[in-house]
Amino acid sequence: MARQKQATWGGRFGSGPAEVMLRFSESVSFDLRLAPFDIAVNKAHSAMLCKVGLLTPPERDAIHEGLDQIAAEIEAGRFKWDPRLEDVHMNIEQALTRRVPAAARLHTARSRNDQVATDVRLFFRHACEELAERIRGLQRVLVAFADAHQDVLIPGYTHLQRAQPVSVAHHLLAYVEMLGRDADRFGDVREHANVCPLGAGAIAGTTLPIDREYTAELLGFVDSRGRPRVTRNSMDAVSDRDLFFEFATACAICGTHLSRLAEDLILWSSSEFGFVSLPDAFSTGSSLMPQKKNPDSMELVRGKSARLQGNLQALFTMVKGLPLTYNRDLQEDKPPVFDSFDQLAMCLEVSAGTVEGLTMNREKCAAAVSDPALLATDLADWLVLRGVPFREAHHAVGALVAVAEKRGCTLPEVSDADAQKVHRALKGDWRSVFDLKVAMAQRRGVGMPGPARIREELRRWKRLLKDGKPGGRR
Ligand code: ARG
Repeated sequence: MARQKQATWGGRFGSGPAEVMLRFSESVSFDLRLAPFDIAVNKAHSAMLCKVGLLTPPERDAIHEGLDQIAAEIEAGRFKWDPRLEDVHMNIEQALTRRVPAAARLHTARSRNDQVATDVRLFFRHACEELAERIRGLQRVLVAFADAHQDVLIPGYTHLQRAQPVSVAHHLLAYVEMLGRDADRFGDVREHANVCPLGAGAIAGTTLPIDREYTAELLGFVDSRGRPRVTRNSMDAVSDRDLFFEFATACAICGTHLSRLAEDLILWSSSEFGFVSLPDAFSTGSSLMPQKKNPDSMELVRGKSARLQGNLQALFTMVKGLPLTYNRDLQEDKPPVFDSFDQLAMCLEVSAGTVEGLTMNREKCAAAVSDPALLATDLADWLVLRGVPFREAHHAVGALVAVAEKRGCTLPEVSDADAQKVHRALKGDWRSVFDLKVAMAQRRGVGMPGPARIREELRRWKRLLKDGKPGGRR
């Protein structure tokens, strides 16, 4: 079978690519999702070509009309993608040229290298906005749940050993803070993406009199004062992929935060903890053991966070050591970022659904937090207020814990005589520190889990999330 010559670059070739080469090198199976951005770029580029006299206004209008038709066909699923045309750019351009002869002039003064760099920047802008919005959705659910369970106390853990009492609200607000920084990070990535590479050409620009600032403006690549932002070096513009690293990093960090939230909920929902039960809609059963209700949603969030880190690693490894400028290796840059976007978007939605449907088991929480040992540090603080140096106080309370262990009783059950033997300052109302309510009320400083402070933090987050500031920075 005679191999058909490649329509767009076949000029110098005697025959077309091997069938396996076509299958091997096509990217349209995954980059077709850039279509809406590619069409926007085509429109802006043709408008610019018309402005500088390289297209007539009727030619520009015909191109725009043709692009609108193609966009509608793609949207409706009627467009026929052809892998022999390699990628989304050639598919759209060829379909357009079949309908609009003037489209043969569309690729004037540009290359697929600056075109794809522009398309993905539009994708990153969209993806960052979408993910920040979903982060906001999860933050709202966490804040609402914390608000509704302000009075529920649990042990806080270090080394997965009971440490000090905290409120569930304080624990969940820790994740709200992390997610706020994640949202800010996506805001930063969006900002970095917001520079227009079009006009860089294949590597070294063009001899034609283009107006880069005009194209940039049309595509919204502008600063806060509306001034166009264009890339400053054509070789950098077509070959660097640091935006991909940044986006994948932001996804990997957010995924890691979600993974830790997932792990907390997996622990809390176990029979051993029993603090919460997960909603049926986000749990699954066992095919063998009828009694099981498994936290698969949270396990998958935890598992997918590994995939997000892997995507970042793939990008680094691909770009490291590539000579400037464009190399076809770079076509492999898109699957990892598309995957990170899709998977993180789902992780955020599933996490929000799971937290929204949690049921708190107040009795189990109360039982776990009633352990007086959680307030051992408070007793050391009590001694400090009576003039005992902290190191000495720490040692004394440690000795008291040992006595309690030996006697098989709790800390406040140790007798006055025994307490006196441990430290002479342990007298009078030393047992008052074991009042959990009082202990919590004393944690009133900024960042602490006392109820008054938590009320204030909840108010702050509700305000920030209403104003559309997921990170509280912008
Ligand atoms: N599909 C290609 C990519 O994503 C577009 C750029 C092709 N450029 C080239 N010189 N073959 O990398």
